[in-house]
Amino acid sequence: MNWFRDYLLGPQSATHATEVDSLFMFIVYLTIFFFFFNGALIFYAARRWRRKSDREITPHITHNTKLELLWSLIPAVVVFVVFFWGFKGYVSAFIPPNEALEIVVTGKKWVWQFEYPDGTRSLNDLHVPLNRDVKLVMHSEDVIHSFFVPRFRLKRDVIPGRYTELWFRATQPGVQQVFCAEYCGKGHSDMLARIFVDTPEQYETFLREGDEQTRTMPLGELGRLVYENKGCATCHSLDGTRGQGPSFKGIWGHPADGSDGKNYVVDANYIRQSILYPQAVVVKGFEPIMPTFQGLLREREILGVIEYIKSLQ
Ligand code: CUA
Repeated sequence: MNWFRDYLLGPQSATHATEVDSLFMFIVYLTIFFFFFNGALIFYAARRWRRKSDREITPHITHNTKLELLWSLIPAVVVFVVFFWGFKGYVSAFIPPNEALEIVVTGKKWVWQFEYPDGTRSLNDLHVPLNRDVKLVMHSEDVIHSFFVPRFRLKRDVIPGRYTELWFRATQPGVQQVFCAEYCGKGHSDMLARIFVDTPEQYETFLREGDEQTRTMPLGELGRLVYENKGCATCHSLDGTRGQGPSFKGIWGHPADGSDGKNYVVDANYIRQSILYPQAVVVKGFEPIMPTFQGLLREREILGVIEYIKSLQ
């Protein structure tokens, strides 16, 4: 019946998923069983005791101790089993093992930021080693977000002013989708991150040099990827429409009005400054809401963004 489970829940990609799924499927099968069992009893009773003539009188029955005990005790046992099974799973899901690799997750409108033990940081792409316990220490910089990894069967709120934790051990190499599961404003549905489950070697390389794309892709293409995956797209359009921030279309080489009344020319230095110190110059008519990307983008990625904006004439 694994196809049925996969159809309902999707493939299992972490150890915790097995635990969640077995209880979930137990409840599903229990429900299906009692649906038919109760249906059959009703059907049987309706046929067996249907009115056969007008003179028939319904006997006066006050109670039936044996039957009442039966229909109280059996469900009681069943809900106790479900409760303790679920409680056990809950405890194991929310208490991380001691030697887990600790990664700090920051949710903010509208990106996920990850910080590794060695200080490396990344945006929207989380790299973790395969078959290793990973603990996420999560907090939010603005509103409530929720970190949801369907194939790990994990979801937990990410709250400002408090740390919440999650842990998992990924059992499948490859890429997992992360969603934000708490409505957090306009960019909520764009708040997607990916978890790359790496071999230990791939993970080490990632920490040292960044991922494959960052190292080898042509600059313009890398810039487009950064634009799409690192949160730029939520605020900056490509077609000239006004978003939370100014559009990228045709700004290269043109002057920009700062809210300080001065004029700036959009060149490489201007873009670099806007990425690293977004409050330095705020374009007139826009709110100073852009977060800094300092330490979050590698040098090559910044060059990529510059190259990409150059191409958007
Ligand atoms: Cu963050 Cu929804």
